[in-house]
Amino acid sequence: MSLFRTKNIDAMIAAAHTGQGGLKKVLGPLDLVFLGIGAIIGTGIFVLTGTGALTAGPGLMLSFVIAAMACGFAALAYAEFSSMIPVSGSVYTYSYATMGELVAWIIGWDLVLEYGLATSAVAVGWSGYFQSLLAGLGITLPTLLTAAPGAVPGAETLFNLPAFVIVIAITTLLSLGVSGFAKLNNIMVAIKISVVLLFIVVGAGYVKPANWAPFTPFGMSGVFSAAALVFFAFIGFDAVTSAAEEVRNPKRDLPIGIIGSLAVCTVLYVIVAAIMTGIVPYARFAGVDHPVSLALQYAGQNWVAGFIDLGAIIGMTTVILVMAYGQSRVIFAMSRDGLLPARLSIIHPRFATPFFTTWAVGIVFALIAALVPLNVLAELINIGTLAAFSLISLAVLILRRTRPDLNRAFRCPGMPVVPLLAIAFCVFLMTQLAAITWLAFGIWLLIGLVAYFAYARRNSLLGKTGG
Ligand code: ALA
Repeated sequence: MSLFRTKNIDAMIAAAHTGQGGLKKVLGPLDLVFLGIGAIIGTGIFVLTGTGALTAGPGLMLSFVIAAMACGFAALAYAEFSSMIPVSGSVYTYSYATMGELVAWIIGWDLVLEYGLATSAVAVGWSGYFQSLLAGLGITLPTLLTAAPGAVPGAETLFNLPAFVIVIAITTLLSLGVSGFAKLNNIMVAIKISVVLLFIVVGAGYVKPANWAPFTPFGMSGVFSAAALVFFAFIGFDAVTSAAEEVRNPKRDLPIGIIGSLAVCTVLYVIVAAIMTGIVPYARFAGVDHPVSLALQYAGQNWVAGFIDLGAIIGMTTVILVMAYGQSRVIFAMSRDGLLPARLSIIHPRFATPFFTTWAVGIVFALIAALVPLNVLAELINIGTLAAFSLISLAVLILRRTRPDLNRAFRCPGMPVVPLLAIAFCVFLMTQLAAITWLAFGIWLLIGLVAYFAYARRNSLLGKTGG
C-alpha cells in the first residue's frame, strides 16, 4: 500500500494559507491570457507548421482545430485539478496529495521529460530562425554546426551550435536569478504576438486559393498525424495554473485564462496555417526550418520576413525560459520530497536559485538540443504531455468520487463527459505518433519505474516520516 501513500492534503492546504502572506493577489483574467499566450506561442507555430503542412497539406488548419480540442477538454480538467490546492506548483504536487506517491512520481518523471525536452526543442526552433536572420545579414555558419546529425536530409550536419548556445545562455540567466523577468517577459510576448499579426496582415494579400486544393492531399490520416505533431504548439497553457495563488478571483479567472489563451492561439494558428499554405505550395516546405518567414520570402517580402525572424527569435526565447524554469521547479519539488537526491534542491546562498539543478539539467538539455532533430523531440514531448493530460483527467474523475468533500475553486463543467473526451482525444493523438516514439517513451517510463523502486521509494521523506 505504501505505493499509494499520499501527502496530507488538509495539512498542505493549511500550510498554503498560513504561508500566503508574500504573494499578492494582483492578476486578472487578461493578465492570465497574456501569461498563457507567452508560454504557448513558439516553435510549434513558427517551425512545426512546415512539417505539419508536408504531412497534412492545407488540411493543417483542421489539424490545429483537432489538437486544440484535445487541449481544451484537458485544460478544463486540468483547471479543476490545479484549483483544489491553492498553492503555486505543478500537477506533481497535486497528484502526490491526492493519488499517492507512485502516480505522483510517474507524473513528475513525465513532466521532467516534457519541460526538459521542450527546452531543447524550442531551442532548435530558435536556431532555425536565428540562422535565417544571420543569412539575411550575409552570415552563414559552417554546415557542420547548423543542425543535429541527420536533421537535414542530404547535408552533413553534426552539432546545432546556436541551439546549444541559447540553452546555455538561458541556464546562466536562470541560475543567477532573474529579477524584473516578468516585465521583460511581457514585452517579449507583445513582440511575439505582433509578428504573428504582422504575418497575417502582410501574408493575406499573397494567398492564392488554388494552393488550397486539394485540401487534404493525404486524407484524414495525414490530418490526424499532423494534429499529433502540432499539438506541440499548444503546450504551455498549464503555465497559467501555476500562478493560481496570485489571481484575484481564481474561480472565474483561471478558466478564462486557460480557455482564453487557448482560444486566441487556436484562431491565430488556424489563420497562420491558412495563409502559409495559401502562399506556398505545401510541398515546398520540405527541409525548411523557418517556414513562416519563408512564406513571406516566397511572396517577395524579404524585409517583413526579416522582422518575422527577429520576432520569432524573441518569442521563442520566452518559451525556452518558461520551460527551463518549469523543469527546475518540478525537479526541485521532487528532490525536496526525497524522491530525487537532496543535492538537487539546495538553494544557492548568494543567488537564491537551485543553482546546481539548473546547471545539471541545462547542460544535458543543451546537448540534446545540439544533437537531436526537432521532429523527434517534439513527438516525444507530445507523447509525454498527452499521457500526463490523460492521467490528470482520469484523476479528476476519480477524485470527484473518492474525495467529493475537497474544496474545488474551479469545477470542470460537463462531468463526466469532458474529462472522458479529454482522455479519448489525448489517447487518440498518442496513437497517431510513430512507433519509435512509443518505444522511447516506454523506455523512459521503465527507467522511471526502476529509479522509483531503487531510489525514490526508499528515500521518500513521506515514507520516512509517515506523512
Ligand atoms: N507551445 C510551445 C511552442 O510551440 C511549446 O514552442
